[in-house]
Amino acid sequence: KTYIVIMAGGIGSRFWPYSRNNKPKQFLDILGTGRTLLQMTFDRFSQIAPAEMFYVVTNKHYLTLVKEQLPDIPENQILTEPLRRNTATCVAYANYKISKNDPHAKVIVTPADHLIVREDKFHQKIELALTACNGNNKLITIGIKPNRPETGYGYIQYISDPNNHIKKVKTFTEKPNLKLAKTFLESGDFVWNSGMFVWKVQSALFAFGKYMPEVAEVFEEGMAFYDTEKEEEFIKKAYSLVKNTSIDYGIMEKSDEVYMVLGDFGWSDLGSWMSLHENRKKDPDNNVVEANAILYETQNCYIKVDSQKLVVVQGLDNYLVNESENVLLICKLDAEKKFRTFVSDAKNKG
Ligand code: GDD
Ligand code: MG
Repeated sequence: KTYIVIMAGGIGSRFWPYSRNNKPKQFLDILGTGRTLLQMTFDRFSQIAPAEMFYVVTNKHYLTLVKEQLPDIPENQILTEPLRRNTATCVAYANYKISKNDPHAKVIVTPADHLIVREDKFHQKIELALTACNGNNKLITIGIKPNRPETGYGYIQYISDPNNHIKKVKTFTEKPNLKLAKTFLESGDFVWNSGMFVWKVQSALFAFGKYMPEVAEVFEEGMAFYDTEKEEEFIKKAYSLVKNTSIDYGIMEKSDEVYMVLGDFGWSDLGSWMSLHENRKKDPDNNVVEANAILYETQNCYIKVDSQKLVVVQGLDNYLVNESENVLLICKLDAEKKFRTFVSDAKNKG
């Protein structure tokens, strides 16, 4: 049986002020489709598995949001985290819990913040990955052909083999610096890590045991508690014991059992205003306008004002103008690296 684990506990701070701590981007309809990113993720995988096979891992503060947005998922399969401990912890929790119920399970782990354009092709590749993961201890990644030296992604170097759709991974480098990212891009034998993983649950447990033994030890102890009334208390303790590490640093960079299936289905990590701009409808001057607005000599901008205010803009190029709730932000559209500062300074200001 195949289970789908949706990781939906991130903060999405690079979409501030639209994305807030109390409602991060995965819970927003940022593409204007009528469905939130979380719902779109669910829809995409619903063709592979019924709602009973889904687990959503999220922070306890977002439980209500998940329940509202995905009413079909059984409530006991919405796993809540007491603390933010990053993706390695969230993946460990879900996989150890699933293994207790179904030791022969296959698991697809997916982020909740992606756009996938060609769903038919996507399903084909997932099927391929599900077959590929049959081998012992194999961890399957979905690679994306890179087109710029993005430093926010993982880079996968693979052994090229034209006769095989499943490539052996040579190296995995999470979030390289710009110089390294450029070298990777130019060399041509790297793809981006899409952040989706496919494996047999036993392969995941094996990887935790080998590469993150301290995490394995904690979550193995939970076997006595998963699916009992003591689970919540156990998880509280478990989360306080483990370090904050992503699955990419904790396992993917270290494992020599990683394989890659090429995801040629049109993919975008909706990670920033800039990437959202790329994926939305633009006016003839390359502006995305979600506001009651009049623009003069303005191009390459993202203008999103939720209130009914009339917005008049002149002379801007490559800017973001976003009013959400009580914050108005005006900054360069590509100011991604500044958002942590914005958010923390705004907090201090109150
Ligand atoms: N439950 C839970 N708990 N979910 C989390 C947590 C957590 O503590 N932290 C992050 N997530 C969720 C996010 O909501 C998102 O859906 C997913 O896990 C990935 O986390 P991000 O924080 O968005 O990771 P990233 O984008 O920096 O990097 C990952 O994705 C890239 C592609 O988008 C890595 O896997 C990179 O290697 C990859 O290239
Ligand atoms: Mg992301």
